[in-house]
Amino acid sequence: MSAEPVEHAPTASLDLDLDTFRSLGHAAVDAIADFYADLDHQRVFPGVTPAEVRARFDETLPDEGHDPRDLVSDFFERVLPLCTHNTHPRFFGYVMSGGNHIGILAELLAATVNQNCAKWDVSPAAAELEQVTLRWLAEFIGYTAPCDGILTSGGSMANLTCLAVARAMKAGGDVRSEGIAAAPAPLVGYASTEVHSCHDKAFELMGLGHSQLHKIPVDKDYLIDVAALERSIQEDKDQGLRPFVVIANAGTVNTGAVDPIEPLLEVSRRHDLWLHVDGAYGAFAAASTQAGGLFAGLDQADSVALDPHKWLFIPFDVGCSLIRNPSALRDTYSLTPAYLRKEREDDAWEAHERHFTLSRSFRALKVWMSLRTFGRTRLIRCIESNIDLARHLSRLVEEAPDFELLAPVPLSIVCFRYVPPDAPQDDKRDEWLKRLNTALADALLADGRAFLSRTTLQGKFALRACILNHRTSPADIDLLLRTLRELGQGVDRTGLQPVS
Ligand SMILES: Cc1ncc(COP(=O)(O)O)c(C=O)c1O
Repeated sequence: MSAEPVEHAPTASLDLDLDTFRSLGHAAVDAIADFYADLDHQRVFPGVTPAEVRARFDETLPDEGHDPRDLVSDFFERVLPLCTHNTHPRFFGYVMSGGNHIGILAELLAATVNQNCAKWDVSPAAAELEQVTLRWLAEFIGYTAPCDGILTSGGSMANLTCLAVARAMKAGGDVRSEGIAAAPAPLVGYASTEVHSCHDKAFELMGLGHSQLHKIPVDKDYLIDVAALERSIQEDKDQGLRPFVVIANAGTVNTGAVDPIEPLLEVSRRHDLWLHVDGAYGAFAAASTQAGGLFAGLDQADSVALDPHKWLFIPFDVGCSLIRNPSALRDTYSLTPAYLRKEREDDAWEAHERHFTLSRSFRALKVWMSLRTFGRTRLIRCIESNIDLARHLSRLVEEAPDFELLAPVPLSIVCFRYVPPDAPQDDKRDEWLKRLNTALADALLADGRAFLSRTTLQGKFALRACILNHRTSPADIDLLLRTLRELGQGVDRTGLQPVS
């Protein structure tokens, strides 16, 4: 039964009159469609400095508001030209996907109902859709055991969420009540030297300190040295420490390396440690036939962090924690004061009992709508197309006399550098190439035809392309290399020579 309408006395309302709302909405969607029609011709990075952007928005707080009819043109004329377009087919920076159109509409619809996904009674549909979404995400990567989970703001939060569960389950004392002092010995965890920095931060936040995340060396393919891990665990035990977690990389941020999960599981089980998989970047590739074999053992991990806003092409932000033990999330996070208590006892799924955060947006909607619209097969095809494009780029790099591949390409990240014929052959070569490639990366940023990020691999400066966009085509990859060569030839060589 619908609620009976009541007469409203005039108040100071923030709502638009509905005709204005309707026409602004239509104008916004029209302008969005125009933007996407023209996306390929946009500069990827706007080529501006922080001071320039700051100056454009340097206004005082308005006493009286502006006409809302300027809203859409204001955004498209003032804000959008100062955005970096990670939606662009030639955005290859960091680990970012280009979002998708269903996600744009889902964000609009989610804002319409303004759900607070903290509690079931204030977000019943969202709570049920979050569970369906979690089940589908788990199924997508083959994590099929009955598990619990929660959507988060992103991969950093998803990893922290899981690591805190690992700490609560394996500390050997009541850390929720007593803190880490409850553990019988200082807690220590393990990951390879290639692990994402969010894990160091998580160790800091958990009161352990990042020095208690012991970094294990990697081999030439940037995979964790399992024997060295086991030696390190044993040495730490002998010294009276309490190992509690091993973190496996399922796609490192630097090169996309996927640690051997099965051997890590064996070591973890032998020492009664929690095995957490950071699959924020790579784990969705477990669904593909091209790369799926790399992820053997993923289904047995104690917890997995995922990032649908990376390789599932969902707009920012949404991450995901999956925990194999169905009661562990609640055992770690449930704390219900009187003002959050349920009206009645039932089996309602309560998000606030599964996370540190209380108020949460309706993130499930964009993931659920995207999964429903595209289906598993089409999404896997997009992931595999990105892997193919990365292989295409690495082949071009290997075949070119003036580029050098710097790491294997197991997924969709390609690390390489420009090595022109005039590069010195002596011991100053790496430093000279670092300066040249830094200048080249700066030149590409200013040029705007593509966007790369940078990293360092075994002391060598690398240009890093992460292909994570369903809009990217082989022509974009060819254009990237052509542009780099053209800009590389133009870099001023004066000053590149290191002084000895
Ligand atoms: C492997 C890995 N883990 C964690 C993160 C952090 O994820 P987020 O940026 O969503 O917090 C990233 C980000 O690139 C990543 O690549």
